[in-house]
Amino acid sequence: MHALCIPPFRSFHASWSLTPAADAARAATMVHAGASPSWEQMWAAGLQPGQAFDVGSASATLLGCLSRDSYAGRTGMRALVPGCGRAYDALALVAHGFDEVVALDLAPTAVQSARAFLAASEDAGAARVTCVEGDFFEHAGTYDFIWDCTFLCALDPSVRMRWAERTRTLLAPDGVLAACVFPIAPNKVGGPPFALSPQLLKDLLEPAGLRCEVVEVDDSERHVPGAMKGGNLPGTALLLARPAAAS
Ligand SMILES: C[S@@+](CC[C@H](N)C(=O)[O-])C[C@H]1O[C@@H](n2cnc3c(N)ncnc32)[C@H](O)[C@@H]1O
Repeated sequence: MHALCIPPFRSFHASWSLTPAADAARAATMVHAGASPSWEQMWAAGLQPGQAFDVGSASATLLGCLSRDSYAGRTGMRALVPGCGRAYDALALVAHGFDEVVALDLAPTAVQSARAFLAASEDAGAARVTCVEGDFFEHAGTYDFIWDCTFLCALDPSVRMRWAERTRTLLAPDGVLAACVFPIAPNKVGGPPFALSPQLLKDLLEPAGLRCEVVEVDDSERHVPGAMKGGNLPGTALLLARPAAAS
């Protein structure tokens, strides 16, 4: 097996992709455009906490969001983290009060890494996280809260409308999607991560039947992938979206 390079990701111009040869192989073997096998290759190459996109802890953007409002006010509320990686954010959602958090990832090694992180955390809340290996586009369920953090930006742009529709399908009638809009980098070309903007998410989510609210985040709440720590960060915003029929 050849060694795969995990990019240092010091600058946002860096990519989360593998080598050019691996990118070409990915294009040829993709199951569908939103389920690239390159993610498993990246994880299986030994992605460590704090490398590439991995923050090493819960996203500051999520912690800021949860500090401003209560999203788990009833018993029995469920949250979903699609493309969860090591599931740091899932544990933060349990701490916020969700009774069950489903941490979903396509890559088997990501799911193993999430389970290992949760087991090592010695946090009793870890028992409320269910790690699921699977494709978001095939996932079924009903959730009160969905936290999208560097999941949309990791997906091929051709599947964005399907991402919005699947997100809408998975949300309870009074559910909330919270999305970390990152990286906001207007001049960035290509990806992953593909550049996002609040307007781009609105243009995807409003036709799917969601009302959107954009929340500006201050520096302390910016999303910081591990390999970007101390570097030149692209912007972050928070977007909250609710089914349009909900009052
Ligand atoms: C950029 S990483 C972000 C991981 C995590 N949210 C974080 O911030 O550390 C994107 C993750 O999405 C997962 N992924 C990609 N396509 C997916 C799909 N169709 N369904 C579920 N997970 C997927 C990848 O395996 C990868 O772990």
